Amino acid sequence: MPNDTLTIKDNRTGKSYELKIENGCIRTADLKQIKVGPEDFGLMGYDPAFLNTANCKSTITFIDGDRGILEYRGYPIDQLAEKSTHLETSYLLMNGVLPSKSQLDDFTREITHHTYVHENVKSFMDGFRYDAHPMSMLASTVAALSSFYPEAKNVKSKEVRRAQMIRLIAKMPTLAAFSYRHAQGLPYIYPNNELPYTENFLTMVKSIGTARWKAHPALVKALDVLFILHADHEQNCSTTSVRTVGSSEVDPYSAVAGGIAALFGPLHGGANEAVLRMLREIGEKKNVPDFIKRVKAGDGTKLMGFGHRVYKNYDPRAKVIKKACDEVFSVTGRNPLLDIAIELERIALQDEYFVQRKLYPNVDFYSGLIYEAMGFPVDFFTNLFAIPRTVGWLTQWEEMITDTEQKIARPRQVFLGKRELDYVPIERRS
Ligand code: ACO
Repeated sequence: MPNDTLTIKDNRTGKSYELKIENGCIRTADLKQIKVGPEDFGLMGYDPAFLNTANCKSTITFIDGDRGILEYRGYPIDQLAEKSTHLETSYLLMNGVLPSKSQLDDFTREITHHTYVHENVKSFMDGFRYDAHPMSMLASTVAALSSFYPEAKNVKSKEVRRAQMIRLIAKMPTLAAFSYRHAQGLPYIYPNNELPYTENFLTMVKSIGTARWKAHPALVKALDVLFILHADHEQNCSTTSVRTVGSSEVDPYSAVAGGIAALFGPLHGGANEAVLRMLREIGEKKNVPDFIKRVKAGDGTKLMGFGHRVYKNYDPRAKVIKKACDEVFSVTGRNPLLDIAIELERIALQDEYFVQRKLYPNVDFYSGLIYEAMGFPVDFFTNLFAIPRTVGWLTQWEEMITDTEQKIARPRQVFLGKRELDYVPIERRS
């Protein structure tokens, strides 16, 4: 019989301890009993950036980074991308099962009913400078929503939580579209609730001059596929931020605003923007080998859109996006930067530096090319990530709130600073 325990011998004291192994983990709180004396706090795990620490138990999203597998509630991402819609996938994430036809109709109706934002949100957005980054606008406006829905702070109520989840999933495209229109100096366009979710968003962003403006169905489909691919990704930086902020039992708008802030960074969702800037800087296919040399020289230049904390194999989302490129480019014309991207990938995938470190294209490597071909400015790319990730953030938040093992997130530190100094008045300091 396998014994699911770990025996640890503390060589400082010669004592042995037996810790339980459950789901492939020990509880680091169990290390606390390992002490050199009664005054000792006890052994801790030191894990900056959570390289090997599970922060929660989850049933939402499964990733096998070595084999390049991603599943939402058990369903492989490529099947969802091919067969589902973003709203159906959102239902799946939130409820754990695929909806029946009537469940999906009800869910769609509910989301559609909440796409409008309070008129004051518009004036709030007007307060931003003409060149405000759309992600700054989105983070602030989502945080501001908590002031419009004060009941949202009642996070113990299942009904209240669900109402905010529906609201936020519904309003995010409207807020993102408003932030785009603001940056372009264009009037805001209200949601058209006769349109499906993704088409409604594209229309709010792009429509100009006529109420009859119609998004190309192939572009709506491609964007919806991108929305599905971005809907959740287990305990990434922004989701961990949402869980951490939410663990204080603040309202979900404030928690999601924290997630948007985390997503903004170039090492996370901001990478799609960084990829485009990098491809433009490279400029031509013939400059690719020189750029790769610079990356390998270790002067801090990174091949943006490559590498992942979890995937040590091809990111399965990047595979789907690469395919979607063809469909989008058949409508918009080929993005000339695609040739540079393909050449970068070709060279990198056979270069020892990238092979050894298991660096493969991630979701952001090709998504920016599609966004650009669709006419979105680079600054707006991360908003296009935040819209679909909202359902992931909220589902993870709900799971955290209802998990009886969770408490306010509060890591420990290893203190290495000075202690017990005597205060020196300013005139006596050298
Ligand atoms: N280009 C060049 N070298 C890289 C890259 C890259 N994109 N990514 C990692 N490396 C190198 C590191 O320098 C390090 O080399 P070393 O062992 O010689 O020091 C090694 O590969 C391991 O990398 P880490 O930084 O330890 O990997 P980590 O898991 O901490 O970082 C991250 C993951 C942040 C995604 C990193 O790969 C990166 O910065 N990539 C570029 C930004 C990017 O594309 N981010 C999007 C991620 S997907 C998403 O968030 C939606």
